Amino acid sequence: MTETAAEQTETFAPPEQFAAAANVKADEYERAEADYLGFWAEQSRELVDWHEDFDEILDWTNPPFAKWFVGGKLNVAYNCLDRHVLAGNGDRVAINFEGEPGDSRTFTYAELLAEVSKAANTLIDLGVKTGDRVAIYLPMIPEAVISMLACARLGAAHSVVFGGFSADALHSRIIDAEARVVITADGSYRRTKPTSLKPAVDEAIAQGDTPVEHVLVVKRTGQDVDWVEGRDQWWEDSVGQAGDTHECEFFDSEHPLFILYTSGTTGKPKGILHTTGGYLTQVLYSMKAVFDIKPESDVFWCTADVGWITGHSYVTYGPLAAGTTQIIYEGTPDTPHQGRWWEIIEKYRATILYAAPTAIRTCMKWGEEIPAKYDLSSLRLLGSVGEPINPEAWRWYHRVIGSERCPIVDTWWQTETGAHMIAPLPGVLSTKPGSSQRPIPGISVDVVDDSGENPAGPEGGLLVIRRPWPSMLRGIWKDPERFKETYWSRFEDTYFAGDGARRDEDGDIWFLGRVDDVMNVSGHRLSTAEIESSLVAHPKVAEAAVVGAADDTSGQAVVAFVIVSNGVEDSPETSEELRQHVGKDIGPIAKPKKVHIVTDLPKTRSGKIMRRLLKDVAENREVGNTSTLADASVMDQIEKSVTGA
Ligand code: WTA
Repeated sequence: MTETAAEQTETFAPPEQFAAAANVKADEYERAEADYLGFWAEQSRELVDWHEDFDEILDWTNPPFAKWFVGGKLNVAYNCLDRHVLAGNGDRVAINFEGEPGDSRTFTYAELLAEVSKAANTLIDLGVKTGDRVAIYLPMIPEAVISMLACARLGAAHSVVFGGFSADALHSRIIDAEARVVITADGSYRRTKPTSLKPAVDEAIAQGDTPVEHVLVVKRTGQDVDWVEGRDQWWEDSVGQAGDTHECEFFDSEHPLFILYTSGTTGKPKGILHTTGGYLTQVLYSMKAVFDIKPESDVFWCTADVGWITGHSYVTYGPLAAGTTQIIYEGTPDTPHQGRWWEIIEKYRATILYAAPTAIRTCMKWGEEIPAKYDLSSLRLLGSVGEPINPEAWRWYHRVIGSERCPIVDTWWQTETGAHMIAPLPGVLSTKPGSSQRPIPGISVDVVDDSGENPAGPEGGLLVIRRPWPSMLRGIWKDPERFKETYWSRFEDTYFAGDGARRDEDGDIWFLGRVDDVMNVSGHRLSTAEIESSLVAHPKVAEAAVVGAADDTSGQAVVAFVIVSNGVEDSPETSEELRQHVGKDIGPIAKPKKVHIVTDLPKTRSGKIMRRLLKDVAENREVGNTSTLADASVMDQIEKSVTGA
């Protein structure tokens, strides 16, 4: 995927009409920089409906613990629902839901408010109180959004666990967050088959030590499920019968909104905590500035699952707080055929599509004759998220999906940042294939060298964020030390993102991937340490090292090198057994693409595994400098066992 220098600097100016009608114009950068706190206060008052105004914009007296919009009171669900209904937009479609088997449901804002009120009333009946935590383990169905908003209405933090995670992963997340209620479904449809969810909840609770008192179960597939009387309730029997009005309370700007677990550099996932006022402000600002949202006419589609931050900010909170119409799709892009996404865009006349590069590359492989069969003329803006988008995929997206008419916003951000941080303003900047370009107005980032003192050279360096920002994480759940250590200890009072980046001659930012042991597989974050600990927990494994190897479709692929225990056979069956083990232990997305059984691992004299060398092998490159290895012959043996030579 190498590009010539000329291709790299080719830019695409926004179409004239788009630029003229854009929500945000060029002067915004300067205005925001002149007084960034004043800028965020102004955005917040314009975009958020505050029940009580705030009296201080930012309290940064105890870094890195930020407080934004101090003294203000609001309710996020009110901002997503009630205010639109009160403004006379109750009949506007909020959600067009498309199930994988072809069933569909539509909710107007008034209907969604009624559903969320019913769910909130049910949670109250189950004893959920302000300040509690609720675990949500659901597929991409409207009830996922409804459950999240019901929690927000009550001021109970949700912890959404991706439906593809295992019972073990769910168990540890329930315990860490001390969730007393779990909301799940019997199952979901994936590649035309019903897959199950409820059994994983049963298994997680059976593992013990959870404080779970109630399990609320949405009927999606109708498959048989085990039932624990007194603990389990069908959604339709409880939410279905509940009162459809609920008067919401207003909470402090810093009241917890949700916890979302993400992979870090150790085996234990981090519970990233987001709060209310700042999060909503920046999510809404990005809807306005980056997605250029026009709520009365746009049909927005973010293809991410609610189990990830992208689904939190750009399925649940962003589109609904902005009052636009959105699409939610349950299934995979190739069910029942490879044109499913484009068929959905044609059916609902989607105007904005927000997807991951891995999906775009997959569609590229299937061939452009597939999207060509559908009417995609409703689209006006395209977005990319989750990993660097290579220029080739960018151009394909621009030409084939956007007919060279739609600007592309390549949005860089993280679970920790809550909302977009670096992305072009589509009506202002000429976009550049493969570059996220500039921080959004009000955000300040830098690319620095290892010392943190100097700007990085042309070869790149580390991305840091200089100032606090409204939607920043407020901490790691129950672990303030780890919060400081992970993000704020490398450079003083500066946020260390863990991403490598470089700036080109125009000052535009290009991402180079993670600089730590976090992998990015199909836009999903996975930790090498977490997969290694899963592997070594298997009785057949003595030692394991995991690397993310470059992959044409998924960006990176998980490749494991394991030393098996005495007497265990080095066979394809053993490798397959270990792959399945990780899939079951963590979830199918973590399953290694390859498990290589080796006799030794490359270690330094102090015993540290040199993953860099394993990565060379996994990527079929000549192995780099081995001079610091305790035993340099190890690499020859590894290469032999991998290539079978
Ligand atoms: C990567 C997803 C390059 C990055 C929103 C980051 C990206 C991690 C981009 C966060 C992008 C996300 N270009 N890299 N546009 N977007 N990343 O927490 O490495 O799941 O640190 O949040 O994804 O992943 P997370």
